[in-house]
Amino acid sequence: MSKFKPEQEIFSALEESSDAPVNLEILLNNLPGMAYRCLNNANWEMKFVSQGCKDLTGYEQIELLNNADVAYADIIHPDDRKYVRDEVQKALSQSCQFELQYRIIKADGEERFVLERGIGRPFSAGLFQIEGFITDITKQKQAESKLLKMLARQNAILDIERVIKTGSDLRVILGSLLDQVMMQLEVDAASVALYEKELQQLHFYSLRGFSSRQPSRAPVRLGEGLAGKAALDREGIHLVDIAQADHDFEIPECFQKYDLVGYYGLPLEIKGRLVGILEVFSRSPLQPDTDWFDFVDLLAGQAAVSIENMLLFENLQDSNIRLELAYDNTLEGWSKALELRDRETVGHSHRVVDLTIKLGRTMGLRGEELVHLRRGALLHDIGKMGVPDHIMRKPGPLTAAEWDIMRQHPTHAFNWLSGIEFLRQALDIPYCHHEHWDGSGYPRGLKGTEIPLAARIFAVVDVWDALTNDRPYRQAFTKEEALAQIEKESGHHFDPQIVEVFLPIVRRMLK
Ligand code: C2E
Ligand code: SIN
Ligand code: SIN
Ligand code: FE
Ligand code: FE
Repeated sequence: MSKFKPEQEIFSALEESSDAPVNLEILLNNLPGMAYRCLNNANWEMKFVSQGCKDLTGYEQIELLNNADVAYADIIHPDDRKYVRDEVQKALSQSCQFELQYRIIKADGEERFVLERGIGRPFSAGLFQIEGFITDITKQKQAESKLLKMLARQNAILDIERVIKTGSDLRVILGSLLDQVMMQLEVDAASVALYEKELQQLHFYSLRGFSSRQPSRAPVRLGEGLAGKAALDREGIHLVDIAQADHDFEIPECFQKYDLVGYYGLPLEIKGRLVGILEVFSRSPLQPDTDWFDFVDLLAGQAAVSIENMLLFENLQDSNIRLELAYDNTLEGWSKALELRDRETVGHSHRVVDLTIKLGRTMGLRGEELVHLRRGALLHDIGKMGVPDHIMRKPGPLTAAEWDIMRQHPTHAFNWLSGIEFLRQALDIPYCHHEHWDGSGYPRGLKGTEIPLAARIFAVVDVWDALTNDRPYRQAFTKEEALAQIEKESGHHFDPQIVEVFLPIVRRMLK
């Protein structure tokens, strides 16, 4: 910090002459902002303010002088008062000039950013007299934050490009694209659906923000709902507020479920061919500026190109996205069939999928690991298809013979699924979700880290969900009882490190 500045000399000159020189006063009054002299008492009592006072604060000079009607301390934004006080006191104690940026509230209530520079000198018993300038820098601040936003968006585009260049799976690319959508566009949910030409439907492939009961969205036919309409018309749909919108289409149910009101859906096209749709949703009315729309366009372009590349790749090679989509449709179907049969567990698979992804993400799993985790969780009890109804639905405890059959469900899953290449890496959960950390589980009695990580993560979620829901053989436990049970089994049934991460996640959910 520099010690003395020309304006300080101007003030000194002002103070030394009993009548302020006219030319100096003109100078002060024509400065952009307010020149002042004040005391560092609790009110920052103003002893002199230049004419700029009115423009800067909205108050007349005489209102502010000697705290006549308002004290400068009250004009400073309440959240910034302590900061201003501390910084100025620090500079005073070191006889330094200070320079601060903070917010003020003008007479009409408007909030503005100001820059203040000043310097003080001892005045009387513990008090300092401070002289300086205060200038409105709101415009510069706005330009700066706009610039920062643009830079962040630029970086986001580069980030996605990097993910694309590493040759990642489409799910990983679209996942990181949606992460950027959520961060840079300040929306509350987003999704990308792929267009399945043969079925004339949009298949929701990557989603963000739709937590709990709806980790996936059912496919939408072309022309149906908002997404289907935008895709059919090849035209973006923007709704500022769904409640205010004048519409002739069905409002997707997710709006109500997640308190969403704002919407923007943009068809993804390559050379006039529809490849999918990008949608964003917000909980408050969605009224963005043109930069926002430009940025969505850029991201939509990236998404479209990635999808197109994957489709081209599929034509050249034998690996394929269409088959993957068909499989994902099949998995959803299987898990629904299982729930229908095992009547008491409706919703179980989607709840555990969602919580498993959340726990997995917190444990540091990323990208494709999460994709396999999702599929494994969705299919975890597929092996129960091989357990007869009279055992599955038995209202009481199982006999030893019945347990033998029940305990085969992970092995059934292994036998059925291990031949399916697409599911090989998702198999850890269906096969190993009943292994226990201490080796007392089934079917193989694996111990500790011999149990695949995915299965160790999932086991905690599965038991939590089982305990907190009714079963044919018993009523649900309370959440507190269930938590206590999980905690008690840490190190026995469960990997203690996972329990440690799990408990706070659930406690936060329950709040
Ligand atoms: P599930 O009902 O989905 O339960 C999954 C796991 O959650 C169980 O694996 C167990 O580790 C935990 N769990 C569920 N309920 C309780 C409970 O009341 N107390 C405690 N301490 N843990 C519980 P597990 O034991 O290997 O059971 C696998 C499957 O066998 C269960 O899946 C369920 O379908 C069936 N099953 C378990 N016990 C009974 C029973 O007493 N009667 C009948 N009919 N089926 C049972
Ligand atoms: C849609 O039409 O956008 C899908 C419906 C939903 O997810 O609730
Ligand atoms: C991801 O979120 O990155 C993919 C995992 C999922 O299917 O949710
Ligand atoms: Fe099971
Ligand atoms: Fe289960």
